[in-house]
Amino acid sequence: MAATPPSTGVPMDFETALSVDAVEEAARELAGEGPSRQDLEALCQGEPAVDVRGLRAGYGRMEILHGIDLVAGRGQSLCLIGPNGAGKSTVLHAVFGFSDVMAGSIQVGAKDVTRLASSRRLSDAGVAYVLQDNSVFPDMTVEENLLMGGFLLDRRSAAKQAAERVFDRYERLANRRHRRAGVLSGGERRLLEISRALIMEPDVLLVDEPSIGLEPRFIDKVCTTSDGHEAKIL
Ligand SMILES: Nc1ncnc2c1ncn2[C@@H]1O[C@H](COP(=O)(O)OP(=O)(O)OP(=O)(O)O)[C@@H](O)[C@H]1O
Ligand SMILES: [Mg+2]
Repeated sequence: MAATPPSTGVPMDFETALSVDAVEEAARELAGEGPSRQDLEALCQGEPAVDVRGLRAGYGRMEILHGIDLVAGRGQSLCLIGPNGAGKSTVLHAVFGFSDVMAGSIQVGAKDVTRLASSRRLSDAGVAYVLQDNSVFPDMTVEENLLMGGFLLDRRSAAKQAAERVFDRYERLANRRHRRAGVLSGGERRLLEISRALIMEPDVLLVDEPSIGLEPRFIDKVCTTSDGHEAKIL
C-alpha cells in the first residue's frame, strides 16, 4: 500500500496498515493468551508487594495498557520483557504515578496508590523509581547526586549515612565522590542512579532497563540491596 504524506509529496510504502479498532481487537486477542490472574497469584510467594489489577493506563486520552495484571511478592523480582514500544516503561510510569490511569488499581503493600501523587508513593508507600533515561544531575558532584535521593528525609544526617553505605559498597563511586557526575561513564551513571534510589531504602524498587550500560559483574551487584536481599525489579 502506498500513501503520500502531505508535507513532502514523496510516496511512502507501508507493509501493513491497521485501524485503531483492529489494534484494539489484536490487543484483546493477545490479552486472552496471557497468564490468568490465578497463574500470577500462584507465582507470588507470600504477601504481594505490588498488586496491579486490570490496569488501563496511558498518556492523556491515549490508552497504552489495555488491562494489565501483575503480582510480585515481597523479596521477589519481576522482570518485564518485550519489544520496543510494548509498554514496559508505561507500566513502571503507572506504578510510580507518571502516567494517566483510566481504570484498574495499583496496590503497594497494604496501600492503594492508584490516585496517589508520585512523591507520596515514594514517601508513604516506599516505591522508588529509576528512569530509563539518564537522570543524573551532571553539574552536581557524585555525593550531591546521592544526597538528592534523600530529599524527602526529615534528617539530612540519615541521607548522609545512607550515602556512606553506598560509597562503602561501590569503590568506583567513592573514588569520584567530589567530581561532577557529568564526567562519569554511562555504566557509572547507571550505578549512581540506582544507588540514589536506594538512599530512601524503598520497599519496592522499579528499575527501567536495569542493566543498560553495566558490565556483567555490576549487574549482579545492583540486583542486591544494601541489606543483602535481592531487589524487587520490575
Ligand atoms: N509521554 C508519552 N506520551 C504519549 N505516548 C507515549 C509517551 N511515552 C510513551 N508513549 C507511547 O507508549 C507506547 C509504549 O511506550 P513505552 O515507552 O512504554 O515502551 P517500552 O516497552 O518501554 O519501549 P522501549 O523498549 O523502547 O523502552 C509507545 O507507542 C510510545 O510511543
Ligand atoms: Mg522503555
